[in-house]
Amino acid sequence: MNIPLVLDAEPVSYIIGNDALEKSANKFNKYKRIIVITDENVEKFCLHVFKQKLPLINIDGVITIKSGEEHKTINQLTYIWNELTRLNADRDDLIVNLGGGVVTDIGGMAAATFKRGLVFINYPTTLLGMVDAAIGGKTGIDFEGFKNQVGLFVAPKCVIIDPVFLHTLEDVQWQSGFAEVLKYGLIMDKELWQKLEGIKYNEVVDWNMVIIKAARDKIDIVRCDILEKGIRKNLNFGHTVGHSLESFYLKSANPVTHGMAIAAGMICESWLSSKIFNIECTKLNTIVDMIDKNFNRFDFTTDDIPGIMQLMRQDKKVRENKHNFSLLRKLGKAVHEIEVDDKLIIQSLEFYVNRKSCD
Ligand code: GLY
Repeated sequence: MNIPLVLDAEPVSYIIGNDALEKSANKFNKYKRIIVITDENVEKFCLHVFKQKLPLINIDGVITIKSGEEHKTINQLTYIWNELTRLNADRDDLIVNLGGGVVTDIGGMAAATFKRGLVFINYPTTLLGMVDAAIGGKTGIDFEGFKNQVGLFVAPKCVIIDPVFLHTLEDVQWQSGFAEVLKYGLIMDKELWQKLEGIKYNEVVDWNMVIIKAARDKIDIVRCDILEKGIRKNLNFGHTVGHSLESFYLKSANPVTHGMAIAAGMICESWLSSKIFNIECTKLNTIVDMIDKNFNRFDFTTDDIPGIMQLMRQDKKVRENKHNFSLLRKLGKAVHEIEVDDKLIIQSLEFYVNRKSCD
């Protein structure tokens, strides 16, 4: 499939697709020094690719943080600020965030706050980063057990999305990113959904096409509503139930990935959509079957539902004790700020637990 590889939009510019790395060479011209922020895994598996594809770029410092969501902490942020101080970084320098969502979130926050703001570029290396985390200017850290509790919206200068890094991913990381890809299909991109329908994440042939379409979907939304006052809330489809499940499993022996939690959330929230907007059973079953094809169901039971509901009440989107959902009006079209009462949410979790199909 032949899709133009360069998307340009002010003030953030995007280069997406095969060879994006090479095409980004001119983005470094204006800066005194280049400092890379990355994590231990990415340093090992991806930094050499970056250097190989951009041989004329001189890297003046590499700041390496620990890998994993559990390290998206104030300690790691302080570590980056200390390293930037040690390197005498200033506003003539450029920060390159090379990594997944943790690196682009914490690296973006470090860059945006150090000496009142250094320019940064995101080079996502995971599927989740490429189609979601690196796009849209959300930066931050987890704090006191709450995900993304402290942070700021700040735009990178550019986002460079090159599938070249994907071969370094583990299976669960592919799967996790795929949940967000399916979400774009459901909320706004029926064509993408139809291209993927019936396929498992490890059967996708044309990742370049999938990434370009999904990343463009996200860019289209954040361009209209960077501060999440309106349409950007549609991106939260699957995330209200999903985040509470993520928290529920956080302390378990087998913590789940973001994508697994969002996939389960999308099953519950598709059921809610079907009840509220009268989506026909065949459509709901198609959505549920596609998610089940890609994600095993979680093992929580109806006894766990009160605890999950309690976690949901801590969600940032709860206002005046009411749950505001982003739901599907139909396949390919989401709507936001839909109030749903607890009784219906509990029924959606029961639908999930009991593996009911709609009939
Ligand atoms: N990941 C949702 C957003 O960027 O708004």
